[in-house]
Order: sequence, then C-alpha cells, then structure tokens
Amino acid sequence: MTRLGRGVALVAVTAALVACEGGGASAEVQTPQDARIDDAHVHHHDAERLDAASTGDAGAVDPGAYVWRLPADVPPPRVPEDNPMTAEKVELGRRLFYDKRLSRNEKQACATCHEQARAFTDARAQAIGSTEQHHRRNSMALTNVGYYTALTWANPIIDRLEEQALGPLLGETPVELGFGGREEELFARLAAVPYYAEAFPRVFPETEPAISLATITRAIAAFERTLLSFDSPYDRYKAGDATALTEAQKRGRDLFLSEELECFHCHGGYNFSDSVATVNTTIVETMFHNTGLYNLGAAGAYPATDQGLIEVTESPADMGRFRAVSLRNVAVTGPYMHDGSIETLDAVVDHYAAGGRTIADGPNAGVGRDSPLRSEFVNGFELTADQKADLIAFLHSLTDETFLHDPAFADPWVAEGP
Ligand code: HEC
Ligand code: HEC
Repeated sequence: MTRLGRGVALVAVTAALVACEGGGASAEVQTPQDARIDDAHVHHHDAERLDAASTGDAGAVDPGAYVWRLPADVPPPRVPEDNPMTAEKVELGRRLFYDKRLSRNEKQACATCHEQARAFTDARAQAIGSTEQHHRRNSMALTNVGYYTALTWANPIIDRLEEQALGPLLGETPVELGFGGREEELFARLAAVPYYAEAFPRVFPETEPAISLATITRAIAAFERTLLSFDSPYDRYKAGDATALTEAQKRGRDLFLSEELECFHCHGGYNFSDSVATVNTTIVETMFHNTGLYNLGAAGAYPATDQGLIEVTESPADMGRFRAVSLRNVAVTGPYMHDGSIETLDAVVDHYAAGGRTIADGPNAGVGRDSPLRSEFVNGFELTADQKADLIAFLHSLTDETFLHDPAFADPWVAEGP
C-alpha cells in the first residue's frame, strides 16, 4: 500500500477492514484488489452498512419490501433509510423526471438531457441547459445509476441521488433547470397540478409540507434506482445461453478481460465500473483515474475548464482523474468521456491502444501517453483490425434493448397528457 501516495483517501476506513465487496454480486468480471493501488480512491466508512453486515441484516430498509426487477445474482442497490422504495413513489418520481414544469421556463425536464433510448444520456458532446447555457460536461447515462458510490464525473462528495438531483434543479453554473433561489415558485407550480396535489400527500403522508425539495428529490431518486439494466446479450450469455454472443463478441470479451488491455481493472464487475456498491457492500469506495486524455505542458495537466477530481480535493495527483463510468449500453451513449471529446467507440479504443490520446496542435496539444499522471493501467497495446472489431462487437453486446424500450421507464405523460 506504499504507493497510496499517488492516490487519495478522503475518509479513512476505520473498523473492520473486512474483505471488500463482502457478499456483493457474483460476477465473472471482478476488479482485482491490486487495481486499487494506483489510482485515487475515496473510502466512506459506512457505519450503518457495517452494522448491518455484522448482524446479518440488510440494514434498516428491508429490501424485500420493494420488488426489484433483478437477476438472482445481483443484489439491489443501497437505499437511504429516509427514502424507502415504494411503487407509488417511483411513479411520482417518473412523472417528475419527465415533467418540463421542473424547469423555470418549462423548456426542459431531466429527461431532456437523459433520454431513455440513449440509456438516459443525450447525443451531445456537452449538455445545454434550459436557458441555452452550455455545460462543460457530457450528460451521463443513468444505467444502473443506483449502484454508483459517488455521482457525476468527478465528485466524491455527492453520493446520494437525492442530493445529486438538487444540482440540475438549482444549479447556476451553468443553469440547467433554473430554480436556484426560486424553489417556492416550483412548489406552487406543482401544487396547481391535480396529479401532484393528490400524489405528494399520498406518497409522503408524514411529511409537511408534502411538496418540498426533500420530497421532490426523494421521489426522483426512487425512480432512478429502478433504472436497472441486466438483460443485454452479454447477461443472457452469462446466464447460460451460449448463443447470446456471436463468436466475435466472445473473442472481444476475452480481449476486454485480458491483462494486456486492462479494461476490466476499471470497468469490472456487474456494472462495468469500479465505483459501485450494493446493499451488501460493507466498504464503500470510489475510484478516480487519469486515462491520459490530455497532457498539457507535458505536466499531465487537463484543460482549465475541467480538471476532474483535483477541483474537489485540491491534491495535485488528482489532476485529470474521473470516475470510470459503466460500459453497459455504451454503444448508444456517445459522444464519450467527461467532455464528450471522443466521438466513437472506434476512437475510444484508439485512445487506449495508444496509451493516452495525442492531440497534435491547438491549445490542448499534448501526448497523453507521456503524461506523468496517467494511470498505470493505461499502457497501450496492439490490436489487429479484426481484434479491434471484436472488442467493439463485445461492447455492443452490452446493449440492453429491454432497458432502452421498457415502458416502465418511458414518459408517463404521453399516454395521458398533463
Ligand atoms: C441540461 C442537461 C441536464 C439536465 C436538464 C439534467 N441533467 Fe443530469 N446530468 C447532466 C450532466 C452534464 C451530468 C454530468 C454532471 C457533472 O459531472 O458535473 C449529469 C449527471 C447526472 C447524474 C449523475 C450520474 C452518474 O453516473 O453519476 C444523475 C443521477 C443525473 N444527472 C440526474 C438528473 C436528474 C434527476 C435531473 C432532473 C432533476 C437531471 N439530471 C437533469 C445533464 C443534465
Ligand atoms: C485506469 C482505469 C481505466 C482503464 C484501464 C480503462 N478505462 Fe475506460 N474509462 C475510465 C475512466 C476514468 C473514464 C472516464 C474518463 C474521462 O471522461 O476523462 C473511462 C471512459 C471510458 C469510455 C467512455 C464511456 C462514456 O460513456 O463516455 C469507454 C467506452 C471506455 N472507457 C472503454 C474502455 C475500454 C474498452 C478499456 C480497455 C481497452 C478501458 N476503458 C480501460 C477508466 C478506465
């Protein structure tokens, strides 16, 4: 653990350094322990979960109370004690997620930037808010979003969906939905809609007032926790259907899992990301990595507009470190990376094969491969054209058509009108 100096541990793990992921999902793609040596990791000592583990109880929230649509080998995501799952809360959250009344000028809903057919991202390199302000970052897919241990591209502090939803609702740099400082307007607007006037008190009978930032964000978060995607060809293959993957996809899978390519070090496990936790996870950990996307001034710097984890931790080693996002449904989530700066999967593979991206000229010129801050798991490799096609074919096998078209996640207002 001596190389921890290159990383960061914001919150020390105290008691019980029990095996990570105790009782977690059984998945064939596992993140080995040594993947945790180099890159920044942030531990959260989750007392509640540790207690739960030691008593053999899943925690204060009985996961059995809500029926999750999950394969037998994947445990449900964690659910905060103060926001238990109920079917009617999920439905309220879905209404809110798709409702343009959630933006002050009624031009955008969450779903404007998070479209189901694209695994809940949009097709833009960088998002544009309701007042046309440009966001510096790429809208994130929301596939299995309830499992992430920290939310957004590079923030170890925002770790609950309830809290994350406040960002787009209230944020001012940039404005997304535009209700910062004008929350009362939003509450009054929702109270005037018969559906909400009835639904909020029904879903939150103990909460006064029934329509508040707390209840709005709890309902949205409950809906987001249902965005579960485990029915791709890859999942069916794993469940025993040998025909679910093509031969090319099987070869691509072997490449993905190889020590040479290292993809699985950061995109391992049931959600193809190393920053996830289930209801059974005892040590909650978030990893951030610099993949050599930029190397400004040969010092490993990223463009000043977005430098990743360092903006939060102020630790120089965290320059350019971002969270590894899930690769589920990745074929439909482009453009790629935190700033949408890679357009295709083909170009993403080129970036990793080169051991970091080279930008020949302009303000961001630099050779990512030479970055002193690049993760030691991004080393470059050689693939034949056929092997590259196989790897990309494998990434396509993670597309879950059921998820992309599931009516349970679709716009509820369409059928009925407001
Ligand atoms: C203007 C487009 C836009 C709107 C509107 C928007 N988002 Fe996002 N969303 C983004 C962007 C961009 C990010 C990445 C933010 C970052 O990293 O700083 C993001 C990130 C997220 C994440 C984090 C996902 C992850 O993997 O960590 C969640 C959850 C999310 N949005 C939910 C919502 C919800 C809920 C709403 C409505 C209340 C909403 N978004 C409205 C663009 C948008
Ligand atoms: C050192 C950890 C690490 C390794 C190894 C790694 N990745 Fe990544 N991956 C990341 C991080 C971090 C991001 C986000 C980087 C950013 O936005 O700056 C990412 C982003 C991606 C994206 C874009 C996802 C999106 O929705 O924007 C794809 C696709 C991807 N990786 C595929 C791969 C493949 C294929 C391999 C193996 C060749 C691989 N990765 C190896 C950490 C890693």
